[in-house]
Formats: sequence, C-alpha cells, structure tokens
Amino acid sequence: MKLFLDTPDLAVVESWLPHGIIDGVTTNPTLMRRAGIGDRLGAVSALARRISPRDLSVQVTGTDHDEMVAQGRELAALGPNVVVKVPVISPDGTPNLDVMTTLGRQGVPVNATACLSTGQVLAAAKTGVRYASLLWGRVGDEGGSPEVLVAEISALLRRHALAVGLLVGSIRSAGDITRAFAAGADAVTVPPPLLERWLDHHCSRATVRDFQLDAGVKTP
Ligand code: E4P
Repeated sequence: MKLFLDTPDLAVVESWLPHGIIDGVTTNPTLMRRAGIGDRLGAVSALARRISPRDLSVQVTGTDHDEMVAQGRELAALGPNVVVKVPVISPDGTPNLDVMTTLGRQGVPVNATACLSTGQVLAAAKTGVRYASLLWGRVGDEGGSPEVLVAEISALLRRHALAVGLLVGSIRSAGDITRAFAAGADAVTVPPPLLERWLDHHCSRATVRDFQLDAGVKTP
C-alpha cells in the first residue's frame, strides 16, 4: 500500500515527510503551472533530491515521440528516483506505448499516465512500466464507475502476473482514497489538503479534548 503526494510543492512535501507515511510524489504540468514553477528542471531536481529514495513522477510534455524520449531521458538524468510520466495516448489518439518501451529499454522507469480504461492500463503494463496511473475522478466525470474499473484492472493484473503498480490519481475527496485502496489500488496519489481531511475527525478532536480536560490540561 503506497501513499503518494500529488503536488510539486517542496515545502508541503517536506511538511509531510516526518510523518513517515509518504512513499513518493507525483506531479503533472497543470500542478506545476498552478504552483507557479518556472524552472521545471530545477524544481524537479530539488524535489527528487529531497524525497530520495522515494519515487518522483514527472511528466513529459513533448508532442512527438522522439521529443518525448529525449525529455524522458533528460528528466531521468535529474535523479535515480525520477519516474517519467508518459501519457498513454496523445491528444490525437496515437498510442505512446513505443515511447514507454524505448525508455524502459534504456533503463528509465516509466509511469503510464492519463489512463481511463482497462485496455490502456493492460497495454501499458505489457511495456514493462513501473506504474500505470488511472485517473479516478476523471473516470467518474465521464460517467464511469472508478471502483468497478479499479477492481477489474487489479484482478486482471494479478491473474496475468503483470508486474505494474496500479496508481490511482485524480482523487477528489477523502473518501476516494479509502475507496481506491479498497477496490485494489496498489498506490494512491493524493492532493495534500485531502490527505489532511482523510486523517481528521471532529469526534477524535473532541475525544482528545475530553482526555486533556480530565488530565487537568488547560486547552486553548
Ligand atoms: C496524478 O498523477 C494525476 O496527474 C493527477 O492526479 C490528475 O488529477 P486531476 O484529474 O484532478 O487533474
């Protein structure tokens, strides 16, 4: 069971590391833009160093396959724990499995991202990627049932002994985290505010407050 943080924010990641529950970090171009990161390579390098030996997934943005392979190699050179995210298909529907296979043969670990179907995950798994990222929230947006999909994929990966980590992203609520693990996710990547929400409970707060009062502790 792996728990990843879905953010490129180094300060936020650092605040979570001492808790000992974070197994890695994932980013994407949208999260980088929202975080106002201009020097992408510099940010990736710093983050990779800080979280080492945990995995850091970083996405290629190239439009052509040679460019994606070159970007993947450049990203991988930033740290031994960098995992290169390659979208399973391009906006025109072209499969990017060849990019995954090429990077894999060159020893670059790959995370096949933007997966929304069983077929996409299975095909990516056959290229030998380390992770396949299934986008839970986006499956739901499209009218699909992410729980059913994750359970089906998880069962097929095991039945056919495909050694890929099923990484669930696009988490939209604290409950999604639990549901994704229950359905069979190997790893879930979570926006930090939702991880806080997952851990919080008003009744736990009240219980601890009661204990402190009974112990004579002055609470704020
Ligand atoms: C993580 O690897 C994905 O890029 C991310 O979770 C996507 O989240 P979104 O669908 O909320 O943009």
